[in-house]
Amino acid sequence: MEQKDKDKILVEQLTKEIKRLGRIIALLLASLILIPLLLIVQPDLFSWFRKSESEIAAEKKKKAIEQSLADTQPKEDNGFWKPADLNSISNNQLKAQILYGQDLIAHTAKYLGPKGSVSQTTNGMNCQNCHLAAGTKTWGNNYGAVFATYPKYRARSGQTEDIYKRINDCIERSLNGTALTLNSKEMQAMKAYIEFIGKEVIKGEKPKGSGIVELPFLDRPADPLKGKELFVVKCQRCHQPNGEGILAGDQIEYLYPPLWGNHSYNQGAGLYRMSRMAGFIKNNMPQGVSFQNPELTDEEAWDLAAYINSQARPTKDFSADWPKIAEKPVDHPFGPYADKFSETQHKFGPFQPIADEKKKKKK
Ligand code: HEC
Ligand code: HEC
Repeated sequence: MEQKDKDKILVEQLTKEIKRLGRIIALLLASLILIPLLLIVQPDLFSWFRKSESEIAAEKKKKAIEQSLADTQPKEDNGFWKPADLNSISNNQLKAQILYGQDLIAHTAKYLGPKGSVSQTTNGMNCQNCHLAAGTKTWGNNYGAVFATYPKYRARSGQTEDIYKRINDCIERSLNGTALTLNSKEMQAMKAYIEFIGKEVIKGEKPKGSGIVELPFLDRPADPLKGKELFVVKCQRCHQPNGEGILAGDQIEYLYPPLWGNHSYNQGAGLYRMSRMAGFIKNNMPQGVSFQNPELTDEEAWDLAAYINSQARPTKDFSADWPKIAEKPVDHPFGPYADKFSETQHKFGPFQPIADEKKKKKK
């Protein structure tokens, strides 16, 4: 081949390479212009690379569960009451007693229910069904204030009550059962547990997040019909359409406790008062929510309370309750009253006018 031909081939190859390079550069430039253009026309472009709705929902749920667990064991620095550490008990005899008390509160039915190993003197519910996480959950009707504030005057009995009396109150009303003798092993153990977990609270103080939250009153009567609609959607898959709950596999304790019916709390119980029920469910139901992640609005909680507390449940003679009728709480559903409001208004509200009048009379 002559030098001239060689040169020609070289030139041809070179032009080819230059053209290819040119095309690459053109493509690069085009995409530099095209991507922003595409983003303007289709701002959701990157959603193609995002997680699907169901993946997001699953992650959110996982986070909520982790959060609610974290709330159950509040950190020291956020000011909420925290139970004293059971691991810190060095006396073995005392530790055994306190752990027995904890187990009695978490699994009451095992010991005192219809198939109880100690006695058959309660309705089959556990204290823990209403005092969540054995009485330690923030705003879960916990025992944070008990050791610090008892004995105290309680208007329901018109007497100064100690912790024994208060525990038996829940046994006779919430567990629709028979009072324990004060020196029984079971009473002593539950009292020891409740005292121990609340021992770090300053005497006389009600710590933050203890007991049940006070919800603001509605300016209308709470509505059982609205409550029923909500119940069907949000509650009955666990508590059942007839409200009677489901027993666990062992047939001894409840998997989902009863909200009404023969095996539920009776009409003298705290939860039968609308404000206690609404405050409890707001921060604790459906199961798994916490005060930081509630699912119900205040209004929904009041309407659900109205529905649940309109259903049939055991009665007992509580005519000796509230000996000073002027001290009855605004939401005590049984007369006689020191004011002119009806039993219906005392049951469902609106409660603000009743509260206002009570305040005026006190002055
Ligand atoms: C059906 C629900 C329910 C069950 C079951 C129940 N309780 Fe209660 N308990 C309540 C309610 C409601 C209150 C009142 C909370 C309030 O007024 O803020 C209460 C209050 C108490 C208090 C006083 C708390 C305070 O800060 O003044 C103690 C102590 C107590 N219960 C112990 C027990 C024990 C022990 C058991 C089991 C033997 C039990 N309860 C079972 C609903 C229940
Ligand atoms: C996923 C199942 C589940 C759902 C849904 C649920 N609960 Fe519960 N509920 C429970 C369990 C379990 C307990 C007992 C908690 C424990 O023992 O730790 C309970 C306890 C209760 C209690 C106190 C105990 C009693 O029997 O009186 C009330 C009141 C209550 N739930 C109301 C509601 C309401 C109202 C809803 C709907 C907004 C609801 N629950 C939705 C599982 C559920």
